[in-house]
Amino acid sequence: MRVLVTGAAGFIGSHLVDRLLTDGHDVAGLDDLSTGRLGNLADARRAGGLSFSRFDLLSGDLAGLVAKERPEVVCHLAAQMDVRRSVADPLHDTRVNVLGTVNLLDACVRAGVRKVVFASSGGTIYGQPTVLPVTERAALHPTSPYGAAKVAGETYLGAYRALHGLGSTSLALGNVYGPRQDPHGEAGVVAIFARALLARAPTTVYGDGTSSRDYVHVEDVADAFVRVLGPVGDGRRLNVGTGTATTVRELHRLLATAVGAPDEPAFAPSRLGELQAVSLDSSALRRATGWTPRVPLVEGLAGTVDAVRREGA
Ligand SMILES: NC(=O)c1ccc[n+]([C@@H]2O[C@H](COP(=O)([O-])OP(=O)(O)OC[C@H]3O[C@@H](n4cnc5c(N)ncnc54)[C@H](O)[C@@H]3O)[C@@H](O)[C@H]2O)c1
Repeated sequence: MRVLVTGAAGFIGSHLVDRLLTDGHDVAGLDDLSTGRLGNLADARRAGGLSFSRFDLLSGDLAGLVAKERPEVVCHLAAQMDVRRSVADPLHDTRVNVLGTVNLLDACVRAGVRKVVFASSGGTIYGQPTVLPVTERAALHPTSPYGAAKVAGETYLGAYRALHGLGSTSLALGNVYGPRQDPHGEAGVVAIFARALLARAPTTVYGDGTSSRDYVHVEDVADAFVRVLGPVGDGRRLNVGTGTATTVRELHRLLATAVGAPDEPAFAPSRLGELQAVSLDSSALRRATGWTPRVPLVEGLAGTVDAVRREGA
């Protein structure tokens, strides 16, 4: 199948490109390299079969590019992915995450794309859920411009489906971690702790360490995208997480163990707007596609530490 991945040079996008190529798909990648790195696509370039374009989602020529690439499915991961930056500069976030998405959906309709798979955010669209793990039926209460833009993206997918018959699935991702991870993303704390612990630099836990997140490995996330390329999950949002909440204090302990460093973080007051706890119920995705998270957290963190060690070497 011909698949276009937006945000292909980013953390999750590049792993998805690798997985699609391994599965024998014909892959086109688009990225403006604002946070993504061409180095993330080194394996894909070695494997062959990837056509990459440095391109801005907001470009007036996007429709021309999508028409030229003629993908059957578009996996839309390009985004401004820093929640704190969305608070500091909500207009920039809206431009990339809302207008960029609308520009892409328009281009997809014109090019006759069958389906768009959208990277939504289970960690922000529900706000602080009252019941954990949260299911797709929970009310949407984003508390940041970033979360609001993800809800807007999902809403536009629904509108384009109704108007133009464009197929779509939104994957509401947990806190994604793994090799190539950027410290600024939603699960950036894994990269921040891993780098600091390897350098024997001080680490800081904000709050009392009890706030918790659903950490899901990037290869499991790529697997979820691959499983919904067909008609499965059409018109739906599906959560992608492990269902387990890990506290930031426990995460620090696991990473310190993986590094072989002392587990002695400093503590600082919690940051404004931080949620206390999120974990995602992914049973709808499991029922629809058979997906289940395969990488245990301890193993995934050890692999991430090894990758950070190699990058620094
Ligand atoms: N990392 C997580 O924990 C997480 C959780 C939930 C959802 N997501 C979503 O998954 C997607 C990928 O996130 P990531 O963590 O890999 O982040 P990332 O920053 O590594 O990837 C995003 C990519 O989009 C590119 N990009 C940004 N603006 C662009 C533009 N205007 N035109 C073209 N390309 C542009 C960047 O260069 C980057 O390569 C994002 O949509 C993000 O919101 C991530």
